[in-house]
Parts: sequence; C-alpha cells; structure tokens
Amino acid sequence: MDFPTFQAELRRISGHVQAFAAIGAAARLSQVKQQAHPAVEARLIAAVEAILPGGLDGLDAQQVSDALEYVTFLMGEATELFQTPDRPPGWVLRDPAVLRALGQASRQNVRSIVTLANDRPRLAASLAGRFLDVGTGVGAMAPEAAELCPSLQVVGLDIWEPSLALARANVAASPHAARVEIRAQNVTQLDELAAYTLAWLAAPFLARPVAEAALDRLAVALAPNGHLVVGLYAMPTDKAGAALTAHGSCTVVAMCGTSPRWSSNSVLEASSRSRLARSHRRVW
Ligand SMILES: C[S@@+](CC[C@H](N)C(=O)[O-])C[C@H]1O[C@@H](n2cnc3c(N)ncnc32)[C@H](O)[C@@H]1O
Repeated sequence: MDFPTFQAELRRISGHVQAFAAIGAAARLSQVKQQAHPAVEARLIAAVEAILPGGLDGLDAQQVSDALEYVTFLMGEATELFQTPDRPPGWVLRDPAVLRALGQASRQNVRSIVTLANDRPRLAASLAGRFLDVGTGVGAMAPEAAELCPSLQVVGLDIWEPSLALARANVAASPHAARVEIRAQNVTQLDELAAYTLAWLAAPFLARPVAEAALDRLAVALAPNGHLVVGLYAMPTDKAGAALTAHGSCTVVAMCGTSPRWSSNSVLEASSRSRLARSHRRVW
C-alpha cells in the first residue's frame, strides 16, 4: 500500500474511533444529565444523529447505562493495547474503571440467561440451584444472578487478583452477599462432582487448551440435567472486522492473547468431547 492510500485509510478508520467516542460522550451526558457547553453539545448531538439517526432517544436509562459501560470498556481496552503492545498475552487489564465497566456490561448476560429460561423449563429449574460463574472478574454477574434468581447460590471463580479484589468488595456490598462466594481458583483445577445446576463460560476470553480443559471440568461439576451457557462473539459482518477477528481483534488480543476465536461449532464439538449433553449458546 502506498503512503497516500495508507493515510487516506487511516483517516477513514479514525472517523469510526471518533464516532464511537461521540456515542459514548452523548451517553455520558445523557446519563449524568450534565450540562455541556452548548457548542459542544450541539456538535455531539449532530454527530450522533448522523451516525445513529434517532440517537439515544429510544433508549431507557438502563440501556443508556449499558451502552456507556460498553463504550468505556472498549475504549479502555483499546487504550491499554495501544499503550502496551509489548505486554504478555492473557488477561492483563488493571484499570479498575475499565474492569468495572466490563463487569457492568456483562450483567446483561445474566438477564439474557433468565430470558432464555422463560420458555425453557429445565433451564428455569437450573436457575433455582447453584450457579458457577467461570471468570467472574469483578463479580458483577454473580450478584446480578442472585438478585434475579432469589433461591440461586452462586460461586464466582477467577485467577486475576486485581479483578478478584474488586469482586470481593462488590459482593460484600451486595444485599445478596450470603448467597455469593468468590474464589481465587483456576477453572482447570475445578474438582467438584455434580455440584452446579448452571455454569457460565465466556469462551473468547480463554485460550483454547484452557477452555477445553474447562469444559472437561465443567462436565464433571455439572449436576445431571445441569446447563452450561457458553458466551461467544458474533462473527463481524464487515470485511475489516472479520479480518481482525481472524487474526485476533483488539478485543481478542487484549483479552486472551494467543487464543483462537471460538466458533459455536467448535464449542459444540469440544462440548460433546467433554460429554456435555446439552449446551445453550448465547452469541454476543
Ligand atoms: C471477560 S472477563 C470476565 C468479566 C466478568 N464477567 C466481570 O463481570 O468482570 C474474563 C475473566 O476470565 C478470567 N479467567 C481467565 N482464565 C481463567 C481461568 N483459567 N480460570 C478462571 N478464570 C479465568 C480472567 O481473569 C477474567 O477476569
């Protein structure tokens, strides 16, 4: 690629970055009901309107908040990758604001599981037992599950101490603390028999050998008729997004380094190798 073409492409891509930041800024203003400088606010509204006609108008407060957490996490993760490209592979995010933002955004997974259970009576029964949140991070999903499922007992596992410290504080402040346990434990060392009715595994964040070992452990740890819910990324539809994903997109590089992207088929293959009879797939 010649330099003028490269520069033109760089400018085109920078437009996406600015658009993403503008949507986040508009969500932030909307959430905190903050008065911006009128000139800045007008430009922000015009920018968001140009990218997403209707802007944030149709969203309720919870949806605006979810959108803001999502933008916060991705901006933080991208900044971390940009500033420290020499860092080791694996989950290395430390910024509490970014970790918390991901946690808040991932509470949506619990809501999705509860929605899935609306027309799946066996899954609904699993929501009254014991839930294992693998890679619990800052412990945002675990109390959310306890909140939405009043008799559910929850165990959250993680190995990343900066997140675990936030998780312990988060759970301690929750009214459901008595039903939520946070453990520093590697999922590949899980050694429990038929102990859980439901498990959540966010596959893209684990290197493939770790995820395969996790599936084996979970097959043993799940009770008969238990459910495993596996989180996956949706395949981007645009050419650039698909190429980034295939080679390790910002998200995947920042989160799991050398991990190849999981497809729903490969999860199902690995699940059946692990003798998991049933799995629900929630594509992110
Ligand atoms: C996407 S983050 C989880 C976000 C989480 N839902 C939250 O609310 O913060 C993925 C997590 O998996 C954890 N993880 C990675 N490998 C793991 C392993 N072998 N055992 C347990 N947790 C692991 C990482 O430390 C990271 O916190």
